[in-house]
Amino acid sequence: MDCDVRDLSLADKGRLRIEWANQSMPVLNLIKEEFAGKRPLAGIRIVACLHVTTETASLMETLKSGGAEIALCASNPLSTQDDVAAALVRDSHIPVFAIKGEDDRTYYRHIRSALALEPQISMDDGADVVSTLHKERPDLASQMLGGTEETTTGVIRLKSMAQKGVLRYPIVAVNDAQTKHFFDNRYGTGQSTLDGILRATNRLIAGSCFVVCGYGWCGKGVAMRAQGSGASVVITEVDPLRALEAVMDGYRVMPMEDAAPEGDFFCTVTGDINVIRKEHFVRMKDGVILCNSGHFNVELDLPGLEGLTVSSREIRDFVKEYRLHSGRRIYVLGDGRLINLAAAEGHPSSVMDMSFANQALCAAFLVSQGRQLEKQVYGVPPEIDRRIASLKLSSMGIRIDSLTAEQEAYLGSWEMGT
Ligand SMILES: NC(=O)c1ccc[n+]([C@@H]2O[C@H](COP(=O)([O-])OP(=O)(O)OC[C@H]3O[C@@H](n4cnc5c(N)ncnc54)[C@H](O)[C@@H]3O)[C@@H](O)[C@H]2O)c1
Repeated sequence: MDCDVRDLSLADKGRLRIEWANQSMPVLNLIKEEFAGKRPLAGIRIVACLHVTTETASLMETLKSGGAEIALCASNPLSTQDDVAAALVRDSHIPVFAIKGEDDRTYYRHIRSALALEPQISMDDGADVVSTLHKERPDLASQMLGGTEETTTGVIRLKSMAQKGVLRYPIVAVNDAQTKHFFDNRYGTGQSTLDGILRATNRLIAGSCFVVCGYGWCGKGVAMRAQGSGASVVITEVDPLRALEAVMDGYRVMPMEDAAPEGDFFCTVTGDINVIRKEHFVRMKDGVILCNSGHFNVELDLPGLEGLTVSSREIRDFVKEYRLHSGRRIYVLGDGRLINLAAAEGHPSSVMDMSFANQALCAAFLVSQGRQLEKQVYGVPPEIDRRIASLKLSSMGIRIDSLTAEQEAYLGSWEMGT
């Protein structure tokens, strides 16, 4: 089997960690059982470009039990768990092309190797497979039933492709599912970003000023957890509605220019570029900690920071010290890449359970409906979202009310007023 992983002898450790994660993935397990019976993906070839983690392994095994043939490559050069990659190859016979720390050339070579499967469905986390397929393997586009996209940044890229008329097959934006946002972007990114910062630095959050750039789904989660850890939280935003929401939620809101000299920790989660840059670095206190939890490592202007630096060194794992001309030191975590994946283990498994349940059901949806869809970006069908929420609630042993016939008639009518 063609594959490229670091070391197959890591597979035993990976298998144990996959088993551990799987215990917190009740929704995906229910879907896996159903897939094994109904085989909705029988004979379908899927290329997945996702963070190669224990939870992704559970998704791969779910897709396989639905009958799919799969190739997996990494959606981020730093997030691969080499032991998991080894276990997937050895035990599940899934071709994996991913090595933690791979350089950009290897990263794209791995995407090309995965595309050699000649897929009918793509599964992306950042749209790198879709864009590589469009640029380098346009011959594959006509056989594609569709693709799924896991994250905000990817959805933005794909919508722009659709608007420009260059998108060659339909995409379901898994990212836009309610059950994804709540769990993944908000609670998952919130907790795991703080976890990454703590593991990398072991600094005390309590009593610090913690600046969160961007008050979207992820920003809300990060702000909530930083505040819960005792920080005074400052939000920077460019959207007046989101900024107002942050104010009403009790945070201080100010432009980056004012936040720069106040913060002890800075975390970008905007999906935007150069959110913290030269004019901000020069205003920062000595010893501040900078990190990013947005998709790409462009939110911190690292070339700009290099330009202000007299010397730099790796002072701890995942912590790079930049000494500025002024003598002040700035610490950047994980090279400005997603800190929750670079220095921690990404989202807890129960969070990914919700995202990946969406991925699995959307793949089955594309098999049955893909041919009827336009070359556009679609939301997750609401019935899939509701089904996943129901499965999650029942896995937690929580029951909810349902509408009575009278209530259903009332809510569907307009005749009854005051
Ligand atoms: N770390 C993770 O595991 C993880 C998980 C999910 C998503 N993400 C990534 O996090 C990023 C944010 O995702 P989201 O779902 O919160 O998106 P979102 O669109 O809900 O929020 C982004 C916010 O950033 C704001 N913003 C844009 N430019 C800004 C700037 N220059 N300064 C301040 N604010 C700015 C926007 O107005 C918006 O409110 C994306 O890149 C996404 O791919 C990361």
